[in-house]
Amino acid sequence: MFELSRNPEVVAKLRSEIGSRLGIGSDGRKPTYVDLKEMNYLSAVINETLRLHPAVPFNCRVALHNTTLPRGGCPDGLSPVGVPRGTEVMYSTMLMQRRADLYPTKGHPGYFDPLK
Ligand code: HEM
Repeated sequence: MFELSRNPEVVAKLRSEIGSRLGIGSDGRKPTYVDLKEMNYLSAVINETLRLHPAVPFNCRVALHNTTLPRGGCPDGLSPVGVPRGTEVMYSTMLMQRRADLYPTKGHPGYFDPLK
């Protein structure tokens, strides 16, 4: 609702998809499972909401054995990092899903601003 409140063009497109599939207001019918699956724009809106505002914004794993992470070590960050048994490794889906370097860069056809 927060994102829809500041993206009226998204609301208009979503309402038109819902309207043409289910009807709007008192004439509208409840969506079936198939309706929900086939309303692509609705799914895109929910997925994009969870990209920017993930319900689980960070998480962790604990190393059960001595192991390594493939990158992050040394000044260039390209060498493996040692992870002793029992180490908690935190990762943030929220940060990852907003990192510009993980998405198509400017000039690439698929480019978009991941903070928007
Ligand atoms: C927006 C919706 C949801 C999000 C973002 C979400 C997110 C997550 C995440 C990130 C995990 C992995 C946790 C981990 O491995 O440390 C997880 C696990 C799990 N979620 Fe959800 N979840 C959602 C909805 C649901 C729903 C609706 C159900 C059940 C009806 C559900 C049931 C579970 C179960 C059973 C696990 C444990 C899976 C396992 O460890 O094998 N989740 N969820």
